[in-house]
Amino acid sequence: MKRKHNKRLSSSSSLSFTNTILKTVKPAAYFTLLLLTYTLGYLSHHSDLDSFRVETQCVEPIPPENTRQTLIDLIFNGTSPFTDFPPPHAADKLYRSNKVKGWGSNNAVFENLIRKVKPEIIVEVGTFLGASALHMAELTQRLGLKTQIYCIDDFRGWAGFREQFKNIAILNGDVLLYYQFLQNVVTFNQTGSILPLPFSSEQALIKLCEWGVWADLVEIDASHEFLSVWADINRGFLIIRPGGVIFGHDYFFPGDNREVKRAVDLFAKIHHLKVKIDGEHWILI
Ligand SMILES: C[S@@+](CC[C@H](N)C(=O)[O-])C[C@H]1O[C@@H](n2cnc3c(N)ncnc32)[C@H](O)[C@@H]1O
Repeated sequence: MKRKHNKRLSSSSSLSFTNTILKTVKPAAYFTLLLLTYTLGYLSHHSDLDSFRVETQCVEPIPPENTRQTLIDLIFNGTSPFTDFPPPHAADKLYRSNKVKGWGSNNAVFENLIRKVKPEIIVEVGTFLGASALHMAELTQRLGLKTQIYCIDDFRGWAGFREQFKNIAILNGDVLLYYQFLQNVVTFNQTGSILPLPFSSEQALIKLCEWGVWADLVEIDASHEFLSVWADINRGFLIIRPGGVIFGHDYFFPGDNREVKRAVDLFAKIHHLKVKIDGEHWILI
């Protein structure tokens, strides 16, 4: 009897033990399942975005000291655009001033990054009259660096920009933005450290990638539309040398629902980078 009673006792206590286990394990199992589903969802979400990565590999970088002559050879048939400048037909149409209009062109971000990266090559995408490029040239020289700054711009400005810049001459409907940029570089005595690449950002960045001209700093400040910024960041990112940095202006540009920010944030997400803000500029780290 005693034995039977004990057996019953032990079987009922093992039943309640099982119940207790089940009570504890069940929610934990549900929770684990939920976590697993969420994790799988999160991972598959990321792999969706990964398919938007640009997979192009650029040609191995050529030595920085060879880049300027390479570009002069390949773009300007071996003659610097500053040779015999200005041409007679434009000479009296250009203004010489030591004040160059730009936007946030002297912001602290330039000095912060130049001090940190000590760039041999800077590629600026979107230069206009050269204000930021001239500032960077002056900074690098002050820090004793021998930096080359390559300025990508189609030198067309944007539709309607002449309203704000009536002092830039126009010749047969062609605004002399390129010549005025060259003139500014001459005025600031920076013809040895700045070189224009007068093409669309798309064309110029593809060619730099093909020619092995990589940069320590790439600054994005051309068109501020989402698709353009997106393309410029993707192409600019390909030519960054190890230890280099890509950054750009107008993170808070209102545009179409903050389109610069949207492009930068999407790129950062796909590449698992962080967006650091320095004044009006964004930096990917
Ligand atoms: C905001 S301005 C650059 C300002 C300059 N970084 C500064 O701080 O003084 C933009 C420039 O980008 C150029 N640009 C716009 N879209 C371009 C494109 N797709 N390819 C090349 N240049 C472009 C325009 O011609 C204009 O000069």
